[in-house]
Amino acid sequence: MADSFVAQSLEEIRFWSRIMKEHSLFLKLGFRCEDTQLIQEANGFYSVFEQIEAKANALPLTTDPQQIRAFNTEVCTAVSHIWVYKRKILGLILTCKLPGGNNFPLLVDHVSREANYFRNRLHELNNGQLEPLPDAIIDENVFFLKIMADHAKFIGHLLDPSERKLVDQARDFSHDFDQLLFQAQDLGSMRPQSQTTPLLTQFLDQNRVSVASLRDFKKTARDLIESCRIKSIIHPLLADHVYREAERFLHLIDLFEQRLAGAPAS
Ligand SMILES: [Fe+2]
Ligand SMILES: [Fe+2]
Repeated sequence: MADSFVAQSLEEIRFWSRIMKEHSLFLKLGFRCEDTQLIQEANGFYSVFEQIEAKANALPLTTDPQQIRAFNTEVCTAVSHIWVYKRKILGLILTCKLPGGNNFPLLVDHVSREANYFRNRLHELNNGQLEPLPDAIIDENVFFLKIMADHAKFIGHLLDPSERKLVDQARDFSHDFDQLLFQAQDLGSMRPQSQTTPLLTQFLDQNRVSVASLRDFKKTARDLIESCRIKSIIHPLLADHVYREAERFLHLIDLFEQRLAGAPAS
């Protein structure tokens, strides 16, 4: 039990601290030259999460659970701070205080939701209250389907408009994931009656097909961007970032399917 607490905590922190570090970079790249204070804050968060990432990578699985508990709390505080920073930026953009900046409001909201998710995970781990499987399946899918739908929209808007075929594909993914998100919310609203093994299994199967195909699209886009074969204003690291988040969602779906298959039928 203690082992799995340590392993799970380190695994979450290794993945999400890198993500938080990269968000600081993306936000920085979207500011105007004169936004020096905001740029400085972004640099500060970059180094905070770089250090957290390095520490998480260095800690062995044999680390004392008490030490991990304290580390989780420390990380949680840093994540709360970056969440406040992201919401502050969103407020500035929505009140037109950063005219001409290049951070979309939906992108800023999106990265703040990811911070909030990370913070909740750390809370749950430290309090030992992970959600029961049928609830986790619905809630994690609602969260990640929205994330995937947003990614498709960002890609569609950051590709050069002359890349008509790719823009069309991104728009199709956006629509597909909006529909899947509504379905997931419907299933959530029908709780607990909807939480039968056949319905949850079908739900995961259907989501997996779309996530796998979006993951492949992102991989192709990433490779094309890295080799400078398409026109866009997508940073190569952003392309890789959204690809990794899709991989994580797929991995989660796999875990859920395995646990569901092992769980007693309802
Ligand atoms: Fe992200
Ligand atoms: Fe994301």
